[in-house]
Amino acid sequence: MTEPIVVIEHLQKHFGKFQALKDITMTVNAGEVFGFIGPNGAGKSTTIRTLLGILKKSGGSATIFGQDVWHEAVAIHKRLAYVPGDVTLWPNLSGGEAIDLFLRLNDQAHSPRTDALIAKFDLDVRKKARTYSKGNRQKVALIAALSTDADLYIFDEPTSGLDPLMEEVFQQEVLGLKAAGKSVLLSSHILSEVERMCDRIAIIREGTIIETGTLDAMRQLSRTQIRVTTQQPLDAIAALPAVHSFKATGTKATFAVDSEALGDVMRALTPLGITALQSTPPTLEDLFLRYYNQEGGADDATR
Ligand SMILES: Nc1ncnc2c1ncn2[C@@H]1O[C@H](COP(=O)(O)OP(=O)(O)O)[C@@H](O)[C@H]1O
Ligand SMILES: [Mg+2]
Repeated sequence: MTEPIVVIEHLQKHFGKFQALKDITMTVNAGEVFGFIGPNGAGKSTTIRTLLGILKKSGGSATIFGQDVWHEAVAIHKRLAYVPGDVTLWPNLSGGEAIDLFLRLNDQAHSPRTDALIAKFDLDVRKKARTYSKGNRQKVALIAALSTDADLYIFDEPTSGLDPLMEEVFQQEVLGLKAAGKSVLLSSHILSEVERMCDRIAIIREGTIIETGTLDAMRQLSRTQIRVTTQQPLDAIAALPAVHSFKATGTKATFAVDSEALGDVMRALTPLGITALQSTPPTLEDLFLRYYNQEGGADDATR
């Protein structure tokens, strides 16, 4: 097997007395899109800034391409592209000038791919950066990073401020990187984004990785939300052990089902004459709540 691209072991970071990272352990493999998800303040950006050599760790270890992220930052950065969640630009440069400057700082040249990306992201590159919205500043950094030939791409909540159409463009580009065998670390709190692109994810909460694996495996552990209308009364459904939080008004009901029992519940519903049915897969919040309850006790979930 090829060497992992990113290896983080028991990484810790404190700011004074505050411990932002308590225990971060995760591995990004070659050719993989790895999702790093967690609520605001969980420590995603702190982990990424430590990986970039911007912050110095307080404990544990972190390597990229087998090199220490602090001591060998220069060598690592030659093979890395990064987009932060909040891009700052030179106010007096045009968007196009900013893209080219980002590229030059990374020893890259403006290429046909750069032009293709500018067209795809529909960016007016002639405008001064100071007139740009957050979304447009994000686009500048995304275009520069995506037209960079790197081995590892790190995106820290890159689509905040982008409209859904542009989010779609971003997702296609990331899938393209994956098809080209590149490695991607993507932090996000948007499950649908992570779902579509990521091979594996790590969930971070309060500076600790609480779960790592495929999203599929995690979904199996959680509940699907069902809203249904039937011709017959739904009492038999309420009694099923896999059904939770059951609420009914007449023959309309909402409830949650353990995802592994979805088939059984559907078979129990069919004879009741389904007239309307809506099923919502577990959301990121559901996944979080499940892990919060498991790991931290119920009061953590309600904080
Ligand atoms: N430079 C800093 N000094 C003090 N506290 C910080 C600093 N940077 C981040 N933090 C704190 O560390 C925690 C994690 O922040 P962050 O990594 O930005 O979370 P996320 O990116 O997951 O939203 C937060 O409580 C944040 O307030
Ligand atoms: Mg962040």
